[in-house]
Amino acid sequence: MRLLAGFLVVSGLWGATRNLVLFDTDSGLFGDDGAALVMLLRSPSKVSVQAITIVPGNVWGPQGAEYMFHILDLLKRANLTVAMGADGPLLHTIAMAREWGRRWGTLSYMGAFAQDPTAAVIPAPGSKLATRKPRRDAVNLLISEIERHPGEVTILALGPMTNIALALRMKPDIESKIQRIVFMGGNIRVAGNASNAAEFNFWFDPEAARIVLRSRIPQKVMFGLDICNLAPIRKAEFDQIAAVRTPVTELFREDLGNRYPGFLKKPDAVAYMWDSLAAAYLLEPEFVTKSEPRYLDVHTTWGQFYGSTVPLDRRVAPGATPVTVMLGLDFKRVFGLYKDRLIRVD
Ligand code: RIB
Ligand code: CA
Repeated sequence: MRLLAGFLVVSGLWGATRNLVLFDTDSGLFGDDGAALVMLLRSPSKVSVQAITIVPGNVWGPQGAEYMFHILDLLKRANLTVAMGADGPLLHTIAMAREWGRRWGTLSYMGAFAQDPTAAVIPAPGSKLATRKPRRDAVNLLISEIERHPGEVTILALGPMTNIALALRMKPDIESKIQRIVFMGGNIRVAGNASNAAEFNFWFDPEAARIVLRSRIPQKVMFGLDICNLAPIRKAEFDQIAAVRTPVTELFREDLGNRYPGFLKKPDAVAYMWDSLAAAYLLEPEFVTKSEPRYLDVHTTWGQFYGSTVPLDRRVAPGATPVTVMLGLDFKRVFGLYKDRLIRVD
């Protein structure tokens, strides 16, 4: 008995507060979504990823699922559930985004809206197409996992919030059964990175983000551009990771080196930790040094400010819970965590 207790304590299974995580992502080849997944899957004593749900954002869903399968193969986690959700945002369309550009100027980033939604899925460089297919029921999967573990699930939302908004609309009573949502999205006192006014995840599906911000989810934790701008990855940081040669760091090198932001061709380029900051919060929340509670909403009138983060008029959503807006961080600490997880060998 004493031996068993010792084993449980040492292995961290007894008395541990292990987060059950639903990982909702719009991952491209690797980027910040992929880094976030690697960080969590290499931290089994802290979090248990129950499923990966795919949402369009950086890329369309089928391509995003392919990239997730590739990362899971590298991590030897091929059995983790991957489910596709919505085919597109609730209201926003390619035509709207193009017309926005004609009226108000070039967007800094359009993600999947700049890609052909009917294009064939391509494999990750140097690899073959995955032989398995994703499930098609991400929204129902989110609902059933929350209902199976009431009060225990953290949703980590790393893309547009379409799947989560649909789940909240289909089963409103899950709102109070979610332990918390930790999301990357929005901008309060800083400029946007899709349009000048809006951050990309909120801009791609503003109506979905609005549904989540107006919800009664007990805890909402926001990693918007205000804090993300304080966590840049420059060539010096890139080099520390790319210098270590493992299958995961090779993929990191290919994506950040040759694609976005292209450090190998543009040494002065800057990327941001973005989604990996939100993931780091599930592992070592102490890296956040400043936060404040705010009631927030999203601007959904189509125009120059479409998708921007605004204060909530609480009369229109009296049940809405506040958002904890993350504002300050210890970069050395959080980059140390990121680097540690990315360069590990499985
Ligand atoms: O604004 C940053 C967000 O947009 C991140 O989730 C990143 O993955 C990009 O899609
Ligand atoms: Ca993302």
